[in-house]
Amino acid sequence: MEFSKRANQVSPSATLAVSTEAKKMQAAGIDVVNLSTGEPDFATPKAIIKAAMESMESGKASYYTPVGGLPELRQAVATHIKTDTGYDAKMEQVAVTVGAKMGLFETFQALLNEGDEVMIVAPFWVSYEEQVKLAGGSVIAIHPQASDLKTTPSELSRFKTASTKLLILNTPQNPSGLVYSEEETRAIAQWAVDNNVILVADEIYGKLVYNGAKFSSVMSMGNEIVNNTILIDGVSKAYAMTGWRIGYVVAAPQIIRKILALQGHMTSNPTAVAQYAALEALRGDQYPVEEMRLAFEKRLNQTFDLMQVIPGFSFDYKPEGAFYLFPDVTEAMKIKGYATSTDLAMALLKEAHVAVVAGEAFGMPGHIRLSYATSQTLLSEAVRRIQNFMN
Ligand SMILES: Cc1ncc(COP(=O)(O)O)c(C=O)c1O
Repeated sequence: MEFSKRANQVSPSATLAVSTEAKKMQAAGIDVVNLSTGEPDFATPKAIIKAAMESMESGKASYYTPVGGLPELRQAVATHIKTDTGYDAKMEQVAVTVGAKMGLFETFQALLNEGDEVMIVAPFWVSYEEQVKLAGGSVIAIHPQASDLKTTPSELSRFKTASTKLLILNTPQNPSGLVYSEEETRAIAQWAVDNNVILVADEIYGKLVYNGAKFSSVMSMGNEIVNNTILIDGVSKAYAMTGWRIGYVVAAPQIIRKILALQGHMTSNPTAVAQYAALEALRGDQYPVEEMRLAFEKRLNQTFDLMQVIPGFSFDYKPEGAFYLFPDVTEAMKIKGYATSTDLAMALLKEAHVAVVAGEAFGMPGHIRLSYATSQTLLSEAVRRIQNFMN
């Protein structure tokens, strides 16, 4: 079969590939601890499920909704942003999408031409690069040189070219768990304004920060910055709703109209029942989010402490957000005689029966990503297995 050049240039999602392999081993009766996926282990909170069921039973969820989402959901997103950041978003600035992932995809499709460049900061989430390529753009990967692994305006200036159109800033960052401070975020957002580069702010983990760390949304940083920003967010991570596939894009109405013109031909509306669920998530009691955040915080602290003693694993910093640990494993590779972190990750899966994702997938070899969005019992067991493997 001759496939399109477009499809041939895309690599399958590395995180999904490891997870699929882990699930295959589990199906064959092997007891694998799977720390490779990026989703909360919690079930969606009851009130959200109840709202979804009501929407189905009443028949409301039987029909297409407007392409950009239910008006009340678009309004709920706008209100949510106003509450969280003070920015008075209007419903016309909101597009409800099939997960944040589709929001990003449509953003790139709407804005990029062949040859346009998009800056991304390593370590970066696996789908940015492939989605940019699918839109005809190319990626400039910034590898922060600062010891805190965060990029700065002067570093961005060094890599910007006349073709740079977008900069993606993801904080809290997947896979590192790094959180940019308000000053750091503002400086980067202002750099984007000053350099005529549109900022794509991926804030999907914004509600998941720990141990007193503060997350500052770009939307709280004044009109000049907001007008230059496309916000990507959604309910997947904070509300334990990965399977429902509801995200949103917030941007200037003209950008949203273009995104929705595309969406109308790609997915039509996001699934109606999931929209009713997301409506309850945003409008309802926010306590479940705090409950889950506290659980993640506890697991981060316990697992981080446990991992300190694994030979060859080291941390340059303690993660402050999202739900990932991203240790440097270059020493571990040397100890075990593996040339790459991909080889190490594969050996951890095959021999220690712990599924993790190699740093290569995130543009930062020499690291592995472990998700702590699973029970402490499993996390402690995974650490024990990795320790045995290394010893
Ligand atoms: C940084 C980042 N952005 C976007 C997404 C996509 O989220 P969604 O499940 O809402 O499509 C993910 C999911 O893993 C992510 O880690």
